[in-house]
Amino acid sequence: MADPVTRVGLVGGGQMGAGILEVNARAGLEVVCVEVSAHAARSAEQRLTASLERAVSRGKLDAEDRDDALARVRFEIDLHALAGCDLVIEAASEDEALKLDLFGRIGRLLDEDAVLVSNTSSIPIVKLGAASGRADRVMGVHFFNPAPVMQLVELIPSLTTSPQTLDAMRSYVSERLGKQPIEATDRAGFVVNSLLVPYLLSAIRMFEAGYASAADIDKGMVMGCGHPMGPLTLSDLIGLDTVRAIGASMYGEFKEPLYSPPPLLDRMVEAGLLGKKAGHGFFRYADA
Ligand code: CAA
Repeated sequence: MADPVTRVGLVGGGQMGAGILEVNARAGLEVVCVEVSAHAARSAEQRLTASLERAVSRGKLDAEDRDDALARVRFEIDLHALAGCDLVIEAASEDEALKLDLFGRIGRLLDEDAVLVSNTSSIPIVKLGAASGRADRVMGVHFFNPAPVMQLVELIPSLTTSPQTLDAMRSYVSERLGKQPIEATDRAGFVVNSLLVPYLLSAIRMFEAGYASAADIDKGMVMGCGHPMGPLTLSDLIGLDTVRAIGASMYGEFKEPLYSPPPLLDRMVEAGLLGKKAGHGFFRYADA
């Protein structure tokens, strides 16, 4: 990629996607967000608007900057709207088949020197690169939830990513977005989830075994270790479907039992108890 990023495409405006959208729009970038339907695009727009409104009401953003950020964002339902972007960030569900299909389709639409990245937590970047037909210009750029608040971004080059692509993403993340990058090898879980996910799954197993209540497990880690939230609240924030999908990918790669999603997590996902976004997970949420 020859020039700095100015026009960003974002695929998926869900919980993580909407946060990434906000980060880019507030950094002064033009962003086109592609969703699967008009309904999903409206939900993405509502998420963005509500989050910007919240920043205004807390005195973190003035009304003019909110309006400018909103004016830089466009919502579409056709992937062709990504043509002409210098950078496309895929933030669809953590589903390997879906991502491989998207990378194949998006890879064909982009200009020669555009970069295509995934916000995946655990799916092999090298496979996404191969599916895209532009493997040297594909890598992982992994944000954390809530994206407007969390400073860290993991950069994951694959075996086929070019050094120029990694350099371009390093400058985009640190200079353009003002975030803190760390670099990790292309293995499921990267740095943060390799440490975080076995901890979250252990807390779920502890609750499943009746060892302690959900509230006490969380209180233990908040009051005993100074974490901002306990592991069950954090699992609800990430989304239990996402926690399960990341655990399953990591277990698939390493066959480490600590990464294997426990039966209670499977049942909760099957029941639609997906955490905060569904209004109910290990805890109940009034404002979902
Ligand atoms: N969007 C934007 N801003 C938000 C927000 C959101 N969804 N949630 C909270 N904030 C902001 C608030 O506006 C507030 O900002 P100011 O202090 O500047 O006013 C600040 O964050 C603190 O918010 P609150 O006072 O409401 O609540 P809190 O102090 O409990 O903090 C939290 C909330 C930031 C989420 C904090 O609890 C926290 O850091 N939790 C841990 C989050 C975490 O570990 N995330 C990583 C998950 S792993 C992941 O994402 C990767 C993966 O692949 C699974």
